[in-house]
Amino acid sequence: MAKIGIFVGTVYGNALLVAEEAQPILQAQGHEVAVFDDATLAQWQNYSSDVVLVITSTTGQGDFPDSIAGLYREVKDKLGYQPELRYGVIALGDSSYDHFCGAGKTFDALLQEQSAKRVGDVLLVDAVEDPEPESVTSPWVEAWGKEL
Ligand SMILES: Cc1cc2nc3c(=O)[nH]c(=O)nc-3n(C[C@H](O)[C@H](O)[C@H](O)COP(=O)(O)O)c2cc1C
Repeated sequence: MAKIGIFVGTVYGNALLVAEEAQPILQAQGHEVAVFDDATLAQWQNYSSDVVLVITSTTGQGDFPDSIAGLYREVKDKLGYQPELRYGVIALGDSSYDHFCGAGKTFDALLQEQSAKRVGDVLLVDAVEDPEPESVTSPWVEAWGKEL
């Protein structure tokens, strides 16, 4: 069973809600799970040989919410190579914006560049189609947890 850190980026709380739904699903599979909103680099580094699940919305024009922007910047600037890290990404967005799910896609691209190993595909959640994101994310989390 895996040790999983869920790192949340949210403006209005949707991504946090998704994380709070994901936590008990993964715990029921026997994983050890903690949720971090406004996380520090030290909290991220606690999982460098384990698993992280990034759940972030996009704000502005393809930008990170403040609650994860600092973490992203530090992971980018202070960590180089993370080959032992396994991860997943749930990206919340809205397809009426130009940079659909831009923040989640950008975090994924960074982790790929740093040689982390993604488990599953990035889940893109469109607020236009799915106003209740948990209806899409919870089945995805269930399947993702089984792949760990
Ligand atoms: C001011 C503003 C800017 C946004 N910019 C984008 C964007 O560039 N790309 C995108 O895919 N979604 C964008 N969105 C949509 C949000 O990402 C989406 O509503 C998401 O579900 C919000 O989740 P949260 O409550 O966790 O912040 C924007 C929403 C707002 C209100």
